[in-house]
Order: sequence, then C-alpha cells, then structure tokens
Amino acid sequence: NQKHTVVLIRHGESQWNLENRFTGWYNIQLSSKGEIEAAEGGRLIHEAGYTFDIAYTSFLKRAIKTCWHTLEQTGLMHIPIVNAWQLNERHYGGLTGLDKQETVEKHGIDQVMVWRRSYDILPPPVDKKSEFYPGNDPMYKSLSPEELPVTESLATTLKRVLPYWEKVISPEIESGKNVLIAAHGNSLRALVKHLDDIPEDVLTGLNIPTGVPLVYELDDNMKVIPHKDAIAPLQGRYLGDLEKVKARIAGVAKQTKIVFVDSTP
Ligand code: 3PG
Repeated sequence: NQKHTVVLIRHGESQWNLENRFTGWYNIQLSSKGEIEAAEGGRLIHEAGYTFDIAYTSFLKRAIKTCWHTLEQTGLMHIPIVNAWQLNERHYGGLTGLDKQETVEKHGIDQVMVWRRSYDILPPPVDKKSEFYPGNDPMYKSLSPEELPVTESLATTLKRVLPYWEKVISPEIESGKNVLIAAHGNSLRALVKHLDDIPEDVLTGLNIPTGVPLVYELDDNMKVIPHKDAIAPLQGRYLGDLEKVKARIAGVAKQTKIVFVDSTP
C-alpha cells in the first residue's frame, strides 16, 4: 500500500529558465517545453500508480501549472490544492532578471556559484521600489513586512519552508493522506535538506531537475524510508529514465559555467 507517500516535483522549464535568468519570486510562466515536462512528470506518477489526497504548491504560476498538469495526468483534478507562498522559490534579490551567464562574466564564476549554491550567503537586496520587490505585488498583501523578502539564502528559505512542512504538510501525511508538492528548485532543496538530513557542504552540489517526480515513503514517525534506487544524497527516488534524469540535473548545473577568456592575443 502507499502509506505515507509524498511526491515532490519541481516545475517544468520556465521561460526564464530557457532565457537563463535569475528568477526567484518573479512570476514567469512555463515554456512550451516546460508544459510538456510537467505533463510527462504527471504521466510517470500515474504510470507508477501513485495517488494523492491533497496537493500543495506555491503562489507562482510555473509551479501551480505543473501541479495542475500532474493532477490532470493522474485523474485527480478534484482533490484540494493549497497554494502557499512559503513554498515559493528562493528570492534572488537584486539578481532577479539578470542573465546568469552574463553575471558570471561580470562577477566571476566563484561569486555566482556562491550566490546560487552557498547555504547562508544572501544575494544583493532588491530595490524596494522595484517591481521585483514582493511588497509591490498585491498577491502578497497578506504578508507582514518581515515576511516580505528583499533577498533570500537557502538558510532563510528553509526558515519558511520547514515550519510549513512541520506545521501544515507533515500532520496531513501523519493522518494518512498521500501528498503531492509541486514547487521550485531551491524550495525543494530546502525541504530535502531536512528530509534527507543533508549537510550544508553536500547540499551545495545538489541540483533538482525540472519536472522529474521525486518519491518519498515516510514511516509512522515521519522519517524517510531510504529507497534502493535513490541517488545520494537523496533517499527518495526519481521516477523515469535515469539517463534522462541525470541529463536534466546536469542542465540545471550548467546554467552557469566557467568562462575561458580567450587569452590568445
Ligand atoms: C531561479 O530562481 O533562477 C531558478 O528557479 C533556480 O535557479 P538556480 O538553479 O540558479 O538556483
């Protein structure tokens, strides 16, 4: 039986993933490829026979649409969907909208990798007059000033994801509900850090691929039961063709690559 199953899925490729821009809380839509990836992820979940009683997703349309595709493919469009800003992507601050590779050319690969994958170093803050500051977006009018981020690290993202998992999602799983979570690369990195007890230095190297379902079975104490096909440091298992999964993971990592300045005169 499917006791205490939670399936995580990162949204399919977004238009700004395609354009290689720092996205964070910017509410960009899925690319056409991302729509297909999301539907494919849902199909894999259906094929594997997983079913859900409730779904959680973020305030951002790229994750919400991925959630809809997944529920459509699994014949579960009637179950409740909870939209939680706490599951939003990590806010990229003043980097929002910048081209990732151009940022490497300007600041160097080391600084950009610190901004993308360090645990608690914050990117530069967004200007509070900017459209990229959530306080200027009516969608977030219910958030208190301290909840409205000007920039986030993985550590500060974990500070909003983990309490939501512990107070809202985990009790539902404990009560016997099977849960789908459609979210984002870094909000899921924060969640799996907790689920798989991943040390900060190992987390730096972890990239979550777009649109690939990640299945966790939890015991009655909400501890992950490691799966035999898990790819370390994760204990859950990805669904689908392993080569495809690895290629998607590499795709996330190579959004910023070392620039070999042509030194020949
Ligand atoms: C973004 O916010 O740009 C992406 O969702 C995640 O980007 P990253 O892989 O560079 O953290």
